[in-house]
Amino acid sequence: MNFELTINPIKDITSDIEIIIVVDKNLEHRFVEDIELLEKSGFKAGQDETCLLIEKNRLYVGIEEISSTNVRTAIATAIKTLISTSYTTIKIASYMNHPKCTAVIRAMVEGFVLGAYSFDKYKTKKSELSIESITISLEDYNEYELDIEKCAIAMSNGQTVAEATNFTRDIVNTTPEDCYPEIMADIAQSLANKSELECKILKPKELRAEKMETLLAVARASRHKPRVIHLTHKPKDAKAIVTIVGKGLTYDSGGLSLKPSDYMVTMKSDKSGGSAVLGIMKAVSEMNLPIEVHGFVGAVENMIGGDAYKPDDVLVAKNGKTIEIRNTDAEGRLVLADTLAYAQQEVKADYIFDIATLTGASVVGVGHYTSSVMGNSEEVKDIVIKAAKISGEFATKLDFNRYLKKSIKSEIADICNISSTRYGGAITAGQFLEEFIDDDHKQKWAHIDIAGPAFVEHAWGENPHGASGAGVRLMMRVIEGLARQS
Ligand code: BES
Ligand code: ZN
Ligand code: ZN
Repeated sequence: MNFELTINPIKDITSDIEIIIVVDKNLEHRFVEDIELLEKSGFKAGQDETCLLIEKNRLYVGIEEISSTNVRTAIATAIKTLISTSYTTIKIASYMNHPKCTAVIRAMVEGFVLGAYSFDKYKTKKSELSIESITISLEDYNEYELDIEKCAIAMSNGQTVAEATNFTRDIVNTTPEDCYPEIMADIAQSLANKSELECKILKPKELRAEKMETLLAVARASRHKPRVIHLTHKPKDAKAIVTIVGKGLTYDSGGLSLKPSDYMVTMKSDKSGGSAVLGIMKAVSEMNLPIEVHGFVGAVENMIGGDAYKPDDVLVAKNGKTIEIRNTDAEGRLVLADTLAYAQQEVKADYIFDIATLTGASVVGVGHYTSSVMGNSEEVKDIVIKAAKISGEFATKLDFNRYLKKSIKSEIADICNISSTRYGGAITAGQFLEEFIDDDHKQKWAHIDIAGPAFVEHAWGENPHGASGAGVRLMMRVIEGLARQS
């Protein structure tokens, strides 16, 4: 999909079809030329409601008011209606809510790219979208004078970030038979081959040398050997150093604490955090942001077998702490414990984030749309929450407290991998991870549980069924924010 920006008025652009956004049901606006037809067809211009006037080559879509979120989802819905049509070129005007703020134009491009996504790797018949190019006119709904250079940057960043989100979606949607730790490492390596990213892969021998016994224990019963991936974007004159660690469980069967059948389906999505890290690194390098970014992925498959790790085992993590295993399905925190410890040994960062489909409790607590953000620093958590608001993702804070922390105490080891209470599981998982954050990183760390939004069972907004790419747009806004600030 190609995007072009032009100062030409919308009328002077030739294209197969025009998309017109109807704002706040206002059919009187100068952009709307088909009032009678629209009224006849029963079009009410509600948010995301579409009306394709084939003979006019115009596609109308409603939004409640001009905002990034509304435009993003409306455009995603609109582009979907063009699947299996033969239009190849689209034109659309600008819809800004402020003459200087380009967020809506970025959201519009994201809507096109995210909405056009479909995963058909396993379909014999591929779904076809024939759209090749989209021309955005700077003729604005509110007649604002727009800065073409700023708009061009917003457009290009929107495309990069949305394409990276689709890249992550593809990885997550791939079956566990086709995407296992070695494959995740290959994807990372091929990203590095095509860019300036550096890539280091740790195989079992190196993992043993690094004393990552906890991660190795989770991986033991699988025929697929684990990998730890380290991708680096190192620009000259970096303004800050950011580490992002992703949970890359290419399959989570639960291990010996086997998941019930209904809960096991979709567990190919347990690699969503790690896959998001790969997408983020791709976008960071393409945008060449002035921030040093380190992406780590703990890529492991959690299976059963005679060699499986067990409830009752005590494992020694890389940082020396001992962990009593009471449930092998709480494996993500074990993989992250060692990967976080390794990441901190390798990089002294200004900020350290982890992204993981860590707990069903997060989904119970905040729902399917929202990620939970935890940590010791209000400032770092607020950076994530603020970034979420403009990114198109939802995130909310969950507070740690010392009483819940007591529930992960162990009688025989330093800490237990599950809580003794059945409530507050997202927080106790976060507090478990806190044990593996060094003192000098404690105020620099935030944990993001994406278990809710990572995998979509009922399509919503710009997210079709399947992987959403959660974490990519969010973390890109975090990193871009740090690049601007410092
Ligand atoms: N990968 C799961 C968490 C999960 C659940 C992600 C649903 C996405 C959707 C994780 O490894 C897990 O199984 N967690 C357990 C922890 C429990 C045993 C303490 C859970 O949430 O039930
Ligand atoms: Zn699990
Ligand atoms: Zn898991």
